[in-house]
Amino acid sequence: MTRANLNWKQLGFGYMKTNHNIRYIWKDGAWDAGTLHAEDVLPMHMAATCLHYGQEIFEGLKVFAQKNGDITMFRADENARRMNRSAEKVFMQQVPEELFLDAIARVVRANWEYVPPYGTGASLYVRALLIGTGAQIGVKPADEYTFLVFVMPVGPYFKSGFEPIRLVVEEEFDRAAPNGVGDIKVGGNYAAGLRGSVKARAAGYTEALYLDAREKKYIEESGPANFFGITKDGQYVTPHSPSILPSITNMSLVQIAEDMGMRPVRRPVPVEEIFDFVDAGTCGTAAVITPVKSIAYRDREAVYCNGTQPGEYCAKLYQQLVAIQLGEVPDVYGWNRKITPP
Ligand code: PLP
Ligand code: COI
Repeated sequence: MTRANLNWKQLGFGYMKTNHNIRYIWKDGAWDAGTLHAEDVLPMHMAATCLHYGQEIFEGLKVFAQKNGDITMFRADENARRMNRSAEKVFMQQVPEELFLDAIARVVRANWEYVPPYGTGASLYVRALLIGTGAQIGVKPADEYTFLVFVMPVGPYFKSGFEPIRLVVEEEFDRAAPNGVGDIKVGGNYAAGLRGSVKARAAGYTEALYLDAREKKYIEESGPANFFGITKDGQYVTPHSPSILPSITNMSLVQIAEDMGMRPVRRPVPVEEIFDFVDAGTCGTAAVITPVKSIAYRDREAVYCNGTQPGEYCAKLYQQLVAIQLGEVPDVYGWNRKITPP
């Protein structure tokens, strides 16, 4: 099938309408068979719980055109499991893993020409959404849910692409509470993070870096991505905390770092440690690895690289992750799942 006529190399991370999205409804105890829709608006009851009481969770993952021509989704089974952990925490109906994976395959097949060609640096971003669509005015879980998946071709999340970004430690606002819902992908966390992000951008930084809400002592994560730092002796260190999202990209990097002899460790990371790291990055599906150029904290700034060149550790982790995603090196852990063509 011919590809859409798009300037693939110039894509940013923005919404683009594609051919079809897929929607499944859970009602009276069962999910329906799912239907493809061409329109990108959603008719909804005005008392739907997702609108009032935040019963809204989502997932993001990517589909790639591999070197050998296969179209594959990256670790989507992990997204399915994470969506169900999110659902459990905010009392929503879970989506069976098989249904989740099949929904992605169906919607990708319906938008095949939008999968960016191999070698363009772009990918097909998959956004899966689970929302309470049953009407409820008392605060309680909905009795009807909609699971919806849509896709769009994307380039880098941060405008700078693989160029290093500037972070600022946010001490005034919290993103998530220690025993709250920071570890799941519920929409409210992103609303809570807007104050920090907008403030950071207004001050000339790319994003905020949050601290733990209880003690304001330990690094948590950035608004849309996890954080890692590299110690002087080349160890991969990433925060352990109950209030950060368990990133699937970070989980992959921990394995890659292990394979590269970087002795990865998840542990609380005191904020002062930013001044000891020799390299640092943010990681996520959208962010991939976005190298960190500097982190401002109070009246000091930790600097990891000069100009637009990423640090050496970020560069080698990035190369290996992308090589696996694109099928340029053997997929020894079985992270890529092939989608059969339409
Ligand atoms: N942290 C937050 C708050 C996120 O929204 C994301 C994006 O999904 C990540 C981290 C990275 O997670 P993943 O690598 O699974 O995309
Ligand atoms: C992703 O990386 O898939 C995300 O969901 C982050 C998002 C806030 C853009």
